[in-house]
Amino acid sequence: MIETVRVDLPGRAYDVVIGADLLAQAGSLVSPLLQRPRVTVITDESVAALHLKALRDGLARAGITMQSLSLPPGEATKSWSQVEHCVDWLLDQQVERGDVVVAFGGGVIGDLVGFAAAILRRGVRFVQIPTSLLAQVDSSVGGKTGINARQGKNLIGAFHQPSLVLADVSVLGTLTPRDFLAGYGEVVKYGLLGDSAFFDWLEVQGGALVAGDMATRIAAVRRSVEMKAEIVMRDETEQGDRALLNLGHTFGHALETATGYSDRLLHGEGVAIGCALAFELSARLGLCSQEDPSRVRAHLKAMGMKTDVADIAGDLPAAQGLLDLMGQDKKVVAGQLNFILARGIGQAFVTDDVPRDVVLTLLKDALQGR
Ligand code: GLY
Repeated sequence: MIETVRVDLPGRAYDVVIGADLLAQAGSLVSPLLQRPRVTVITDESVAALHLKALRDGLARAGITMQSLSLPPGEATKSWSQVEHCVDWLLDQQVERGDVVVAFGGGVIGDLVGFAAAILRRGVRFVQIPTSLLAQVDSSVGGKTGINARQGKNLIGAFHQPSLVLADVSVLGTLTPRDFLAGYGEVVKYGLLGDSAFFDWLEVQGGALVAGDMATRIAAVRRSVEMKAEIVMRDETEQGDRALLNLGHTFGHALETATGYSDRLLHGEGVAIGCALAFELSARLGLCSQEDPSRVRAHLKAMGMKTDVADIAGDLPAAQGLLDLMGQDKKVVAGQLNFILARGIGQAFVTDDVPRDVVLTLLKDALQGR
């Protein structure tokens, strides 16, 4: 079973193809984009060890040759020095304006290689082959590319849409359970922000999804991508609605910063805890019923995910410290904290009208639960 979601941006439309064993079909899927039968692939060493041969074989089946570069895995790879390395290597491979670069990996590789493709020869096309759940449902779709700066995450980058995304759900089988569940935090986010029926479905199907049922995985990735595509088509450059995708992120980023973007808290784990906090805040502001945050937390717990601030090991700053970190989020506009709140499950909206004292009390209570 193969599903296709079209991201129908004028002049830059592309397909997100979702299915099992897609690496084996990579050649026939990529070949319509090529002016000559060769591609350059940038990946990381972990993904290369597990899946690069399958990609090479899949491309070769359609007569396409590939050169590959493997970078160290991890967030530190999203740096200027690695952009330079990628661009140098791509030029050494004599990549031309009409060629296609392939980003083969998780969010780090997708963001980095997308950015290198955006600036190489003033922009060459690239294909995303995301290998983590988080990258399949979020970062590979929508054209945000970039690297981290000393001053913060994702502060340098460009909007550069891929020409094709291949989400092979079979490769998710090699993720650790923790990484899979962290990606699931972003899947839940879509139900919470805009589709209560999807959240109902996840409550029932979450177990099968984690257990590796392919049809369930394909359905979950498809619905997530469909929702992301709808939002990106409305607001590609995040002037408004695209901020809905940041549900849980204002709290999540503060917690990630407080834990040093380390193994203590993965991005998707921060998003999951952040979603629970965003619903708790919405209930305290009288926007939704108290049942909604309880239901969100119950589902995350049932999935074995981090749900509360108390689930983060080690010390954290006091509530005011966390609030200050939220103020440094790049989504702050004219000094105002932007929140994504909800009037119920599936009914999120963007607002800057949130009394700081309510947030402070919420954080104090969350920290007291520790
Ligand atoms: N990951 C959020 C966005 O693509 O806008």
